[in-house]
Amino acid sequence: MLINNINYRTVWMQDTSVYMINQQLLPHKFEIYRSENYIETANAIKTMIIRGAPAIGAAGAYGLAQGALQFEGENFDDFKKHIGEAYEALDSARPTANDLNYALNFVKSKMISLNIADSKMRAFELAREYADWSAEVCRQIGEHGNKLIKNNQNILTHCNAGALACVDFGTALSPVRMAHYSKKNVFVYVDETRPRNQGSSLTAWELAQEKIPHSIIADNAAGHFMKNGKIDFAIVGADRIAMNGDVANKIGTYEKAVLAKENSIPFYVAAPLSTFDINSKTGDDIPIEERSEDEVLYISGIDEHNKIKKIRIAPAESTAKNPAFDVTPTRYITRIITEKGVIKPIKEEIERFVKINISK
Ligand code: MRU
Repeated sequence: MLINNINYRTVWMQDTSVYMINQQLLPHKFEIYRSENYIETANAIKTMIIRGAPAIGAAGAYGLAQGALQFEGENFDDFKKHIGEAYEALDSARPTANDLNYALNFVKSKMISLNIADSKMRAFELAREYADWSAEVCRQIGEHGNKLIKNNQNILTHCNAGALACVDFGTALSPVRMAHYSKKNVFVYVDETRPRNQGSSLTAWELAQEKIPHSIIADNAAGHFMKNGKIDFAIVGADRIAMNGDVANKIGTYEKAVLAKENSIPFYVAAPLSTFDINSKTGDDIPIEERSEDEVLYISGIDEHNKIKKIRIAPAESTAKNPAFDVTPTRYITRIITEKGVIKPIKEEIERFVKINISK
């Protein structure tokens, strides 16, 4: 992605350090966070220095590589135990996104069949291979999704499913990027996405960097714009997709999908096949992450001295509930855009596509 006209990935690794664009500080400060070991990488995932399903997948892959490279010893059982601990720490950092577990399995399964020296030698290559693959599938999602976009369309998106949420390109924003690169006029309505404001702080920032026209709207304004004919279609990413097509994504996605159906507006989900979970038959099987109530009770922004500040916006005696994701039932979803093409959100079609992916 272009940031100040320089091409960046969201996450990468050099020597034994993992580097990531610090998403806690955007849009106010652009800084690269450096993690020196897998524990710091797991913590960066947990505290959302890096976030978004494919991005945390790649960070997890690099974190596991750090774990392997930093092992000291010669006993293979000790090595396996150490890798198991690193896997656990990374995997449990965020429970809803399937890509994290998918990426960890990719690296672990290929590494653990080798001896310690070869594992160490291969660890970085495997994680890098995963990240390259992840960037490429997001590019392909963009190519497929772009075919659905017509000139002069107005698009609604929720949360940040852009390059920042991936290694590069994005899922939901990848088709929007490709449409813009192919000179179509597009305008994006960006849901601010309370409580963490990934829309107003990350999506809007990313779109501004690429000079893609957009406006931020309050979360509760989407229905108004849909009803008044201002939105041609909605497109979102996904954290986990069940085999019947139910989609877990950022809290608030469900209500946007219901509103879209009510207003006869297509509702697209863009996600790589690594987001589909063969162990979730329906959305009821998807674990929903509960985050700290502070994310609802406080808000952070920049003060007049250019300092990032957190302030309380609710009564001192109030508590809050903060589910990070919701599940949109498959009946509200028009199509799912994957790297292998655009599919109907029905069991038979999903199974066919996911099988192609597994047999690779
Ligand atoms: O809590 P976050 O910011 O990690 O949630 C991210 C989302 O919900 C995205 O829409 C999803 O991960 C798809 S990202 C390409």
